[in-house]
Amino acid sequence: MSDDLTMVQADFPAYQIWQEESRGQPRFVARSRYWRLNPHTVVTPDLAELRDALDPAPGPGRDPVAPAQPNIARMYDYWLDGKDHFAADRAAADAVMEAFPEVAEVARANRQFLARAVRYVAQKGVGQFLDLGSGLPASPNVHETAWAVNPGARVVYVDHDPVVLAHARALLAVDDKVSVVAGDIRDHADLLADEALTARIDIAAPVCVLLVSVLHFLTPEEADAAVATCREWMAPGSYLVISAGTSTGTDPELIRRLREAYGGTAPVTGRTASEIRAWFEGLTLARPGLVDVWAWRPDTLRRHASPRVRFLAGVGRKVTGRPPWQP
Ligand SMILES: C[S@@+](CC[C@H](N)C(=O)[O-])C[C@H]1O[C@@H](n2cnc3c(N)ncnc32)[C@H](O)[C@@H]1O
Repeated sequence: MSDDLTMVQADFPAYQIWQEESRGQPRFVARSRYWRLNPHTVVTPDLAELRDALDPAPGPGRDPVAPAQPNIARMYDYWLDGKDHFAADRAAADAVMEAFPEVAEVARANRQFLARAVRYVAQKGVGQFLDLGSGLPASPNVHETAWAVNPGARVVYVDHDPVVLAHARALLAVDDKVSVVAGDIRDHADLLADEALTARIDIAAPVCVLLVSVLHFLTPEEADAAVATCREWMAPGSYLVISAGTSTGTDPELIRRLREAYGGTAPVTGRTASEIRAWFEGLTLARPGLVDVWAWRPDTLRRHASPRVRFLAGVGRKVTGRPPWQP
């Protein structure tokens, strides 16, 4: 019985679920961690009924795929004013915004940084882009921005989330210049040697590797190892584009809320500014260096400064050579 309870708890992280006794009879209680999530509280005598109540079978008027668990990519899409999110995502995202309303603005500033960085690198003559942790398609996508500068640019989108992959394959113009690859950044060596990726990316030529708003979903050891492998893998003349939440200056309460919001589906690690700077070791940082995400070569004079929600961004160029990369 306790094994089953553990499984239901793992399947519905948006709920606190426990067993208790009432008038000598055991019962199960699920209470939403987020005030907007429906149902809010469920009490049942058995676990199967509890599972049904939290994850109802499709029926008239019900969304057949609405999940009970918030998802990183869909919450981000909600903050970007996208349309691919469900009640559980909105509830979790709103729970963060209750205390930190500026999070949505920082998410939009991050997406704008991504477009500026891609444009910058494309203008430097790089014609291939590897977007690791690409997220749900959000206009302008990397290939659209790159093509505005170089219509022949090739782009590989990588994510480990089946939800993202399904949307990306359905919505992106997947052709011989754009592909979507299932892969986990934590398996960096295998990922970079994957034939689906090397079929599009010429590893002997300069490439732009994007690790934008994803490294904070890895443990510090995983993130450091993944970045080091990418730096080594990139040919001279390549660019590394990174943005990540930082603990330097950020209110620790935000990091606590984000951990709660993602419900254990991923770690949320806020690295210090100097740890993020170390990801560019051996590369030449493009001006203005490692700065708040909105301040990297901004298109407008408007300041988005949020002293308690900080996201750092930088673009590094690999100048020195390397022997041919071995996985
Ligand atoms: C916040 S979104 C960022 C999307 C896009 N890079 C941007 O900045 O606009 C983070 C994405 O990283 C993906 N992700 C998280 N951990 C990952 C991992 N270990 N391997 C691959 N993708 C990962 C998530 O599924 C999600 O789609």
